[in-house]
Amino acid sequence: MVSDFASWCISSSVLLALMCAQVSYARMQHIEEGPSTNYQQQPSSTMDGSTHELAHMDHMDPLVNIFFKIDDLKFGKTMAIYLPTKDLSVSPHLLSSEEAKSIPFSSTQLPKLLDFFSFFRDSRQAKAMEYTLKQCELEPPKGEIRFCATSLESMLDFARSVFGSDAQLQVLTTTFLKKPTVSLQNYTILRVPKQVPTSRIVACHTLPYPYAVFYCHSQKSETRLFQVLLGAENGDRVQASAACHMDTSQWDRDHVSFRLLKINPRSSPVCHFFPPDNLVWVPLPA
Ligand SMILES: *[C@@H]1O[C@H](CO)[C@@H](O)[C@H](O)[C@H]1NC(C)=O
Repeated sequence: MVSDFASWCISSSVLLALMCAQVSYARMQHIEEGPSTNYQQQPSSTMDGSTHELAHMDHMDPLVNIFFKIDDLKFGKTMAIYLPTKDLSVSPHLLSSEEAKSIPFSSTQLPKLLDFFSFFRDSRQAKAMEYTLKQCELEPPKGEIRFCATSLESMLDFARSVFGSDAQLQVLTTTFLKKPTVSLQNYTILRVPKQVPTSRIVACHTLPYPYAVFYCHSQKSETRLFQVLLGAENGDRVQASAACHMDTSQWDRDHVSFRLLKINPRSSPVCHFFPPDNLVWVPLPA
């Protein structure tokens, strides 16, 4: 598997090299150990650690400190931001597309899958798998398309279905330039945020599962993407990616961000930072 993945990286365009480095860097260690060592591990993306279910979230959570107003996106602004510092090297690894295709991915197959991965029916791992499969089977919200990717190839196919089959893709992430010791702290925007020239993005969030599963989605309305250099007083530095959804008129009226930002539901843009384990795909300008 290591060599398959490595040769995929080499044979793909240079643009993807960055991505191969970022995706495989940490996970490669686990691939080298062989897939079986990983399956017994508890899924490391916890259910409250990913951003996909924000619409259903009705309790306060540190996660709320990822939302901000577009007016706050300016040089010198300080705000409390939650960026999980979990160790990505223990994240489940990506399967090759052949492997992914050989394993069913459906809640109707859950009993068989639990057997396959040797999880007890009532274990936390079993609940996490059920949760992920159910999330992936939900109808997309209005104005949005979504896809659960179980391999890099299927993630790229989905991105191309959004941007066009001949689009050159680029991936952006949130990267710690110096690993913070705390997840929630005040950060100041150290430079004028750089807008990425695109009006649509494909954002992929990890879901808890024995192997890497990404919940990828894309809003049909305008989304602006920014790269933001953040600094904390203690010297922590983050090259963060942030998205601003310019049209929230189709969103759930009860979306937690409206309440948190104290804005009238569906009335104005909502921005958020991406946690470090997310992948944000954009087309390269032609
Ligand atoms: C951020 O700074 C404000 C103002 O100094 C302070 O009240 C708040 O507790 C700080 N938040 C965090 C998470 O450190």
